[in-house]
Amino acid sequence: MSRIAYVNGRYLPQRAAAVNIEDRGYQFGDGVYEVVHVSGGCLIDAGLHVARLERSLGEIEIPMPLSRKALEQVFFELMRRNRVREGLIYMQVTRGVARREHAFPRPAPKPAVVMTIRRLPPFPRDVDAWATAAITRPDERWRRCDIKSVNLLANVMAKEAARRAAATEAIFVDDAGMLTEGASSSVWIVDREGTLATRRLDHAVLPGCTRAALIGLMAEAGIAWRERGVAKAELEAAREIFITSASSFVKPVVRLDGRPIGEGKVGPVTRTLFALFSHHVLGAARNAPA
Ligand code: PDD
Repeated sequence: MSRIAYVNGRYLPQRAAAVNIEDRGYQFGDGVYEVVHVSGGCLIDAGLHVARLERSLGEIEIPMPLSRKALEQVFFELMRRNRVREGLIYMQVTRGVARREHAFPRPAPKPAVVMTIRRLPPFPRDVDAWATAAITRPDERWRRCDIKSVNLLANVMAKEAARRAAATEAIFVDDAGMLTEGASSSVWIVDREGTLATRRLDHAVLPGCTRAALIGLMAEAGIAWRERGVAKAELEAAREIFITSASSFVKPVVRLDGRPIGEGKVGPVTRTLFALFSHHVLGAARNAPA
């Protein structure tokens, strides 16, 4: 079965789907995106992702191309047409098509909207097998990483460096030696005192939807955590590290720059939070319409 993509209001076989070569996303990276996890035919934290899309668009002055409700309808239609119940939805909105000129085109073109869906294995059951390795990298990105922009060159370079080091994530460290976030994830540590911590939100990091969902789950479960700066040395000396994102959920990091973190195994806090998030995802899936 050929995959079906959504392109500017139409559902097309993905092979035939194309965007204009003067699309500003292609020319300038002038656009934003979202990635939403689908589990058991249910959208996970879709409200958070759509709200963040709206915010990212607002920050770069692109109007929201579809209402929140219409967007969610397209998500379900993509799931239906592609028969995907376990996977990831990718959604991208750019400023649209115009003759190449850096400043915003006048009059404003219609934003270009592309969405695709990709099948993935169901939510992992085995947290030990889900564990991964990461490297650290200087954060060479721009100063508005709170916008989920399609400009991902620094992230691409960092991910490739991770792959060459037999790792799957690169954790960015800023010029002051403090961690910001992963190339495609939020980063958490359990420090030497046993405190769970993650960096505060500002323009240097993306406000992760999985981070927000996990914080809500922890509040319900009475699990304490702190928002604070984490130096690279502290990251290296952490008892536990894990990352969160729409595609990695709660993913233990058991090796950093080739050295074990803690005992080099999944730690108890990460294990608990993985289970908590797994209930969230699988519970949502249980309540989804068939
Ligand atoms: N990445 N930080 C960065 C730089 C990211 O790219 C992502 C997500 C996150 C976590 O955000 P969320 O929990 O909302 O997925 C943090 C997506 C999955 C991606 O680029 O594929």
